[in-house]
Amino acid sequence: MKDLNKLIIANWKMNPQTKKDAEIVFSKIASFLKNKKRVDVVICPPFPFLFIKDKIKNKILHLGSQDVFFEKEGSYTGEVSASMLKNFGTEFVIVGHSERRDLGETNQNINKKILSSLQAKINPIFCVGEKKRDVNGFYLSFIKEQLHFGLEGVAKAQMKNVVIAYEPVWAIGSNALREATPVEFMEMKIFIKKVVADLYDMKTANDIRIIYGGSVNPLNALSFLKEGEADGLLVGRDSLNVKKFSQIINLSVAL
Ligand code: PGA
Repeated sequence: MKDLNKLIIANWKMNPQTKKDAEIVFSKIASFLKNKKRVDVVICPPFPFLFIKDKIKNKILHLGSQDVFFEKEGSYTGEVSASMLKNFGTEFVIVGHSERRDLGETNQNINKKILSSLQAKINPIFCVGEKKRDVNGFYLSFIKEQLHFGLEGVAKAQMKNVVIAYEPVWAIGSNALREATPVEFMEMKIFIKKVVADLYDMKTANDIRIIYGGSVNPLNALSFLKEGEADGLLVGRDSLNVKKFSQIINLSVAL
């Protein structure tokens, strides 16, 4: 794999509740990142707070959104297009997060969202993950199916812009069953690479970033990056805590 920076992504979900708090968290992270190198940080705030990056110029701090609609424009009440996001300076978009799948997001729509993001030159962070693991390994075919559906029609040349986030649903959020282990991630990374290599080729599989998400915190972040060889992390709860999120960034810079 090319020597890419680790990608540390903040998924703010439906937080914080005020514009002021969003600005405070964002500017604190931005000033923490001054003079930092060898890491790429992506903040994914809720849509109304996408303006927060406007005044801040920093090469390693990027803006992401938590969703996108797949149509280009028109009568789609409540939806936001990829070109609107691009116009706001959005470089990444989370697609297929399990919390959106729970709200009815289908594999087909996820695929259309990935395609429309790529067309608008936004890098999709494509989330896959099983709800539970079984001893027979059926969860692997589940992940394979998510990947096959999601990547349908994505050209080989576009794959370098796709980030795949493995987020086991059982390890996400405050109701998590338990934390995943770096070894579990590493095995899944190999499996995802194999699926991508079968769909495209080995070089394509080696060049994409495969990151981990699910209860990432300052105590486990390093083990996922080092032992698990994660190319980055998708952080939920701890991304709104400036101290903890800065610690996670520092661990990845130190690698
Ligand atoms: P968590 O969320 O870090 O709070 O588990 C991760 C995610 O949902 O992306």
